[in-house]
Amino acid sequence: MCGIYGYCGRGEALAPVLEGLSRLEYRGYDSAGVAFFDAQGEIKTLKTTGRVQNLIAMAAGQEDAGTAIAHTRWATHGGISVKNAHPHTAGRVTLVHNGIIENFRELRAELNYTPVSDTDTEIMAALIDSEYRNDPVQAILAAQKRLKGSYALAILFSDRPGCIFTVRRESPLALMQTETGCFLSSDPSTFPQCGEYYVPDEHTVAEIIPEGMRFFAGAAQKLELAATNRTQGREGHEHYMLKEILEEPETIRRTVNRYITADGRVDFSCDGVEDSLFDVKRINVVACGTAMHAGLVAAHYFRKIAGVEVTSFIASEFCDAGVRVEPDSLTIFVSQSGETADTLAALRSVKAQGGKVLAIINRQGTVMERECGHVLHTSCGPEIAVASTKAFTAQIAVLYLTAIRMAALRGLLDAAGEKAETAALCAAESIARETLKLRPAIIRMADEIHTAKDVFFLGRAVDYAIACEGALKLKEISYIHAESIAAGELKHGTISLIEPGVPSVCFLTQETTRSRVLLSVQEVLSRGGSVYLFTTGDMQGVEDVENLTVCRMPVEKGFSAVYAEAVCLQLLAYETAKRMGLPIDTPRNLAKSVTVA
Ligand code: AGP
Repeated sequence: MCGIYGYCGRGEALAPVLEGLSRLEYRGYDSAGVAFFDAQGEIKTLKTTGRVQNLIAMAAGQEDAGTAIAHTRWATHGGISVKNAHPHTAGRVTLVHNGIIENFRELRAELNYTPVSDTDTEIMAALIDSEYRNDPVQAILAAQKRLKGSYALAILFSDRPGCIFTVRRESPLALMQTETGCFLSSDPSTFPQCGEYYVPDEHTVAEIIPEGMRFFAGAAQKLELAATNRTQGREGHEHYMLKEILEEPETIRRTVNRYITADGRVDFSCDGVEDSLFDVKRINVVACGTAMHAGLVAAHYFRKIAGVEVTSFIASEFCDAGVRVEPDSLTIFVSQSGETADTLAALRSVKAQGGKVLAIINRQGTVMERECGHVLHTSCGPEIAVASTKAFTAQIAVLYLTAIRMAALRGLLDAAGEKAETAALCAAESIARETLKLRPAIIRMADEIHTAKDVFFLGRAVDYAIACEGALKLKEISYIHAESIAAGELKHGTISLIEPGVPSVCFLTQETTRSRVLLSVQEVLSRGGSVYLFTTGDMQGVEDVENLTVCRMPVEKGFSAVYAEAVCLQLLAYETAKRMGLPIDTPRNLAKSVTVA
């Protein structure tokens, strides 16, 4: 995915646009570029590989006339290079693009156009230029009829200084009018102030001038950007990831309190989600990456608390899995960004089959929110680090609330039972807060594992779901090969990889799995592997195991332990990558939200 940003107004454009663009870097950081009208009304373009900081250095001293569009890229079509960096120009059209054009090769042939770059975006500029007869709106509308794919575009026409035109299909785009002029962004949380903003309907063309914006061939949805949803800085922390881990007690509290009544019941009506949605026999949970792991954790809740059969799907596998969507099933889509293409594709597939859908989303005003209809929110505020942390614990909390509500509706929990479950969930905040105090012990573990070539994460039942998240968190920011294994599976193959010095991280929080997990731990230790065990304060039999590094978390056995496990695995990944001196918030090859399938 990529990020686009722009400004048209009084005063200079370059500084606010490049500052806003730097807040979009979580969407991709392979290359960056900016196009702006200079004092003579000519369009100038600056482009660079690497971070927005490089572009800011290039733009120093440049003077603009108050209109600029900019782009930060995560490469899809065309490698990482200056020629493939946006903005792209063809004829009188210069534009920046977030999305994927599926038929750009056919269009290139139809236009008989010889591109400079390898990108689909440049072909789009050529298409709009070919339709341009001095009416930008008509040119864009005509071009849209020939485009297949997703796009959010900010467009300059060389003979229209002081104007920006925008249009979107599937990809996100927001516009905000301020006292000095109009901003556009892929993500409203990056706007320079709170307040009203607009999301144009798909295919609607917006004309932006300093005094305001006009919409053609459609309208725009008006939304409100609240302070909690604006991207703040790192607030003195070395990395966004650490800031976001430290925020977890507060984000769990905010997320949980939104849906619990004064008398301890679960109530989703504040988001318009009625109990009838949960009158189903089975649940599918569909997501990617960390969000998918939250689904794996939740599957245990739904089975144990609500007595409902659950299947968790990797979103990119869902459409090919041949799943029959039954009328008495509910499919829950979990997504921090609300833009993940694979999850959106699965959502569209289930809706096309008439299935009941519910989304759990963190970002506000997203494509998924508009397309799903029934949405519950995690109240984390913007999560900037590519490695998802506070969204994960909030997703687990909302899924737990859903399981409690279903149990109550199915008569498995009376009022007192529901109140007891929600009270236990309200303790998650303090569990996370107390677990943060384990950071020194986790730093010592990071000192020992950061030189490893492979790290294995072990667990059983809900702890295996946590182990999956632990492996992902470590590998995506430390680049160490990390693999999760169901502890019972070790002896079916993977244990062949255990040799002296190979570290394994094991999670044990359920009494029902204790003896078998400790057997697996012994299997690893007896082959010279090292084992770091995260377990609860009340877990017995652990001290009897020799050469085992034990970290007791400030929680007792049971489902609540997942909040402590999550903080531990996140800190372990963070401290390991920190020792390796890696770009923790922006790991190589990754982007915060994968808006391409
Ligand atoms: C998690 O740390 C990764 N950044 C990635 O796996 C992420 O969880 C996945 O891409 C899903 O993103 P979403 O929650 O925005 O849909």
